[in-house]
Order: sequence, then structure tokens, then C-alpha cells
Amino acid sequence: MLKPEIEDGQASLADPQFRADVLAGLARRPRAIPARWFYDRRGSELFEAITELPEYYPTRTETAILREAGPAIAGHAGAGRAVVEFGSGSSTKTPILLGHVSPSAYVPIDISGDFLRDSSRALAAAHPGLAVIPVEADFMRPIALPAKVANTPKLGFFPGSTIGNMTPAMAIDLLRAMRTSLGEGAMLVIGMDRIKEAAVLVRAYDDAAGVTAAFNLNLLERINRELDGTIPVEAFRHKAVWNDDRARVEMHLEATRDVAFTVDSRTFAMAQGETIHTENSHKYGTRDARILLRGGGWTPVGEWTDPAGLFAILLAEAQAERPAP
Ligand code: TRP
Repeated sequence: MLKPEIEDGQASLADPQFRADVLAGLARRPRAIPARWFYDRRGSELFEAITELPEYYPTRTETAILREAGPAIAGHAGAGRAVVEFGSGSSTKTPILLGHVSPSAYVPIDISGDFLRDSSRALAAAHPGLAVIPVEADFMRPIALPAKVANTPKLGFFPGSTIGNMTPAMAIDLLRAMRTSLGEGAMLVIGMDRIKEAAVLVRAYDDAAGVTAAFNLNLLERINRELDGTIPVEAFRHKAVWNDDRARVEMHLEATRDVAFTVDSRTFAMAQGETIHTENSHKYGTRDARILLRGGGWTPVGEWTDPAGLFAILLAEAQAERPAP
């Protein structure tokens, strides 16, 4: 999900929420800054480059699985649904799904209006006759969908293993919000990255060319640029670690020496080896993925993977609103 922010180099015009998140995140222990702030223009470009790296298998693997699974998904879902994508698709994945399921409408939801309008225009041009109805909203909360699709059964689409960037508790809240937004009879196509050898996982988030490192470190440059920061970026290194207890890859920025700096006139000091936690990417085994879906109000009805079992696409249907036995 790309979220271009205002880039002007002037601290006075920085997003107040960015300022608040950075100041609070640097002050707390462990230090952590929300991952959404990665995506300024440079961050969005670097993220696109990550998806093409040899070590970063998720994007190309999920795309291949979706091509394979398309006809079976269409068979389960039937024609004429409104496809509702959570985080609007800049990707090549959306046209693949749309090409298989004969949708009556496409409703991309994104918090970034500019990005939403651009990608909607491109999709509408590529699919003449398809009603494209963008919704600018935060999809973490239940959303009122456009009246035009009120009586159309929905097919939710949440690719990219973005669910993995949330803690399981947040992921379940989101799945339940999706269940509420999409309504009775809805189905959901969701991508989840699987647990695998730690070395493979870590390499996907710490590539040889240093693109993921640049992506992570760009957050510090953005802070310096937009929040009048003096962070010595060269004194930080990108660190990706597999946290087996929590089944996630964590990204951190580690101080390689004792550092002191200011952000927005506030002083911070970090000892050598201390880190700022910037991202999580949770991984789900086959049963884990199904339990997560059930916990969020969705019953798995189909599951597809690549020959090496690196990544999975699951199809689920909304649980009826009744107490489980
Ligand atoms: N959801 C994907 C993943 O966890 C993409 C992603 C989100 C990502 N934030 C990232 C990839 C940071 C690399 C670095 O893999």
C-alpha cells in the first residue's frame, strides 16, 4: 500500500500525526515507529523495488498462485460479485483476480485519496464496462460501502500478506471489521506468507543489494527532512531478525555507536546496539492461517500454494451471525 505524503522538506508542514508518532515512538521502550510512515515518495519507490528483488519471493509467488487459483476461486464465488480490495491495488494482482471472477463492480478502499484516484483510473481504463467505485477510508474500521453495491454479494481481496504486518490481535480485529463491512454472503481472498526456514525469511527482508536496508533507513532520512531531525543516519544499520516465539520477521534500525540527536527540538540518546523497531511480518503455517480466519469470522473454503509451499492464498466465506456450537 503506497501512501504518498506531502514532501516539502519543511518541518512546519509535516503531518502532525507523523510528528506525534515519531516523538512518542522514540520516547517509549522498546522504541518503535509505526510502519505506515515508511511510505513517502522515496519509500514507495523503494518498496516497489523490494517486490522485484530475487530474495523477496512473496510478490512473484503470490502472483503465480493467483493465476493458478483464479478459475477455482471463480467457481466458488460465482460471477457478478463486487470485488472490494482493502488497500487499493497498484499491483498486477488486481487485474488477475478481476479477469477471472467476472465482477459487477470493483471497489478499492485506501486511506490515500490521491493514490486511490490514480490506480482507479488505470483500472477503469483497463476494464471497460466495469463499475469502479473508489472509497477513501481507513479499512481498519468497518466501512459503509457505496449504495450502488448494497445488494450485490461481495468478494473481499486482501493480497500481499499485509495481514502479516499486524499482530494477531489486530489481524483478528481487521478480519472482523471486514466481515462487518462486506456483509452476509461475502467471500474473502487473502494472501498469507508461510513459516519456512529462518534464513530464507530473513534474506527476504535483508537483501544483498541493500534495497530493504535503504527502505528502512529512509525512515530516518524522512524524520530529518520533515521533522527537523539531526539523526546521524550513517550510525544506524538495518537489521532483520526472525522472532520464532512470535512467528514473525522483525525489522529494526540499530545504533552502531552511542548516538544523541534531536527531533523537533527534543533530545534523544541511544546506546550502541539499541534499536528502533519499524516493522513486523508475521508468518502463518497452514493450520495457523485457518485458525486466524476462523477467529476473525471467516470459514476457509479453499487454499492454494506454490510447489515449494512458500506462500498461500486462502478463500473464505463470512460466518453466519450466530453463536458457534
Ligand atoms: N506485507 C509484505 C511483507 O510483510 C510487504 C511489506 C510490508 C514489506 N512492509 C514491508 C516488505 C517492509 C519489506 C519491508 O512482506
